[in-house]
Amino acid sequence: METTEKKTEEEERKESEKEKEKEKAEKEEELSASEIEYVSYGGEHHLPLIMGLVDSELSEPYSIFTYRYFVYLWPQLSFLAFHRGKCVGTVVCKMGEHRNTFRGYIAMLVVIKPYRGRGIATELVTRSIRVMMESGCEEVTLEAEVTNKGALALYGRLGFVRAKRLFRYYLNGVDAFRLKLLFPSPVLQSSLSMLTDSDSGHWHNDHIPIEECSEVH
Ligand SMILES: CC(C)(COP(=O)(O)OP(=O)(O)OC[C@H]1O[C@@H](n2cnc3c(N)ncnc32)[C@H](O)[C@@H]1OP(=O)(O)O)[C@@H](O)C(=O)NCCC(=O)NCCS
Repeated sequence: METTEKKTEEEERKESEKEKEKEKAEKEEELSASEIEYVSYGGEHHLPLIMGLVDSELSEPYSIFTYRYFVYLWPQLSFLAFHRGKCVGTVVCKMGEHRNTFRGYIAMLVVIKPYRGRGIATELVTRSIRVMMESGCEEVTLEAEVTNKGALALYGRLGFVRAKRLFRYYLNGVDAFRLKLLFPSPVLQSSLSMLTDSDSGHWHNDHIPIEECSEVH
């Protein structure tokens, strides 16, 4: 009988210790979420960081020329998220005339797995879209795999609508949705107003990129 009681006390002590450790880990997680720093593309030293993230998370292969095409021509539209010096997310975009409209285009968006679900992608995309709006874009587009639930939910929340389905758009044979956001978007306006002031394809190999955004399976 005594042994059983002792065991129970020991078990309770262990459980309480576990609980404390869990609380500590949760607090650390909260803290780290608030420590995310967002910066716009700042030069060649950012390129390997962007490439590393995109290469590991998106299914389409890009050459260094593709990355340079975007970041050299529209550095103000690419953003990186850092946590304690580590790059944990990035967005790469462009803008220009397209069939008589001035249009923004989101080419790549990635947040590494341990940092997902904390609003980092939303913040990155919102920053790019804000610069697009300020630059006179009338709309923003992108493509996402029809199976990419996370990206479709994220863009849906920001007010993007499905404009087209593109048959076997990606090299892996998956269809894409072309998503479109028309300005002014009331949903986005409220996201934008929550932000503080900003800090500031389908193509392969060496060709000039057109548009794309697909996830690794
Ligand atoms: C898609 C991706 C960029 C989302 O990054 P994230 O930082 O986790 O996104 P956020 O935290 O800003 O998510 C905002 C909202 O999008 C939706 N969302 C994001 N990921 C989701 C998922 N896996 N499933 C369902 N909804 C999701 C949710 O509504 C979420 O809001 P909530 O957390 O309040 O519910 C990230 O999962 C990723 O890098 N995936 C691999 C690359 C990729 O698919 N890129 C997009 C190509 S088009």
